Order: sequence, then C-alpha cells, then structure tokens
Amino acid sequence: MENRSVALDGPAGAGKSTLAKRVSEHFGLIYVDTGALYRSIGLFVFRNNVASRDAEGVLKLLPEIRLDMRYDDSGVQRMILNGEDVTEDIRLPEISVYASDVSAMPAVREFLLEMQRSMAVKYNVLMDGRDIGTVVLPDAGLKVFITADASTRANRRYLELKAKGIETTFDEVKDAMIKRDKNDSEREAAPLKAADDAVILDTSELNLDESFDALCNLVTAKFGEK
Ligand code: DC
Repeated sequence: MENRSVALDGPAGAGKSTLAKRVSEHFGLIYVDTGALYRSIGLFVFRNNVASRDAEGVLKLLPEIRLDMRYDDSGVQRMILNGEDVTEDIRLPEISVYASDVSAMPAVREFLLEMQRSMAVKYNVLMDGRDIGTVVLPDAGLKVFITADASTRANRRYLELKAKGIETTFDEVKDAMIKRDKNDSEREAAPLKAADDAVILDTSELNLDESFDALCNLVTAKFGEK
C-alpha cells in the first residue's frame, strides 16, 4: 500500500504518546516519539550549563550530540544520547522547558529533520510531534491533530507525573503547560499547528479507551483493517 505512515500532532498532554503506543502496537506500526529527540537535545544543553534560549551556545553544542533511537523487547522506544540511555532523564519537568526552547531554533529542527524522515522511509511509522503533518512527513497517508482543553490536558499530565513520584501541583503543571503551548505555537520555525489535511480529534470528553477507538477508526478508515 502507498504511504501508510501516520502523522500525529498536537499540544502537550493531549494523550498523544499513550495513544500512539497503543495504536501503533495494534496496527504493527513503528512508534516514533519525536519529542524525545528535542528533549535529548534539551537535556544535553541543560547538562552543559548553557541557557535554553542561548541560540549561539546551543548551536555550538550540536556537533557534539549523537542521538540514537532503539526499541527494547517490548517495543518501547529508548533514547540514546552519546551512548547513554536517557529515556527517563528526558521526562523531568525542567527538561520540558529546555526541549520547548531549543525546539524553536531552526538549526535544531534542521539537525533532527533527516533522522525523523529516514525512520519513515525504512518503516511504516506512527510519528508523534508538533510538525509531523506540516513539515516532517507532508505526504503521510493519515494526519491526525489530537487535542483537548487545557484543564483536561493539565490534569492528565499532573496524574502522570504524580504516578512517577514527581512532586508538583495541578496549578504548576497547568501554568507550565500553557506557557509551553504558547512557546510551541507562536515560534516561527515549524510551529505547532494542524496541517490543512489533518483530521482534528478532540479528546476532552473521551477517556483513554474511547480515544483509542476513535484513533483506530481513523486508521482503519484510511488503511483498512490491520
Ligand atoms: O511531545 P513532547 O512534550 O515530549 O515534546 C517536547 C518539546 O519538543 C515540545 O514542547 C516541543 C518540541 N517538539 C517539537 O517542536 N516538534 C516535535 N515534532 C516534537 C516536539
């Protein structure tokens, strides 16, 4: 079949990664979490004591960064930064801010573009991010823009962080999320927005299973049964 890749974009906390994992497993697609790439660069910048908005400083660090994505036995994507598995470290809230800031830099986006595209050449992917349908895979067979209202998204993220034992409050999570959405949507380079040919899936009123069914229905309608 022609391009069976799925582009899944949307703001933080819309449930993209949880849904993407389940749906890709269901259809035998390779799940690519592109946020993990920006997060890894954010982590490297943070560890090198360079400010997250210091474009010149970040640019100087790029040649020192080697990124690898691997999949463990259960198909979970592991993020490897210069040989070190940073899959857990990149999820810390302070790294979210770094990821969002460095992702606004055109040089950082350029640095990651080829890596993302080459994954979709090798495999049928379900790729989640902010600019997959608009920039990375403009020919994706299916584009979905998944969203939910800010309070719902903040609550989901809050519960996720709490479950991981990360100390925070709902208000803190919501504030940080609104700031990050603004940062991601208002930047000039590949801002977060739905592609013209994307299907909009609003999960505000849907639980996880209902969202899963809705996304599976879109994939089936486009590509047929798995
Ligand atoms: O999906 P996430 O929250 O892990 O992404 C972290 C940051 O990376 C997000 O705030 C914006 C940026 N990002 C991006 O600019 N483009 C992508 N395709 C994926 C993530």
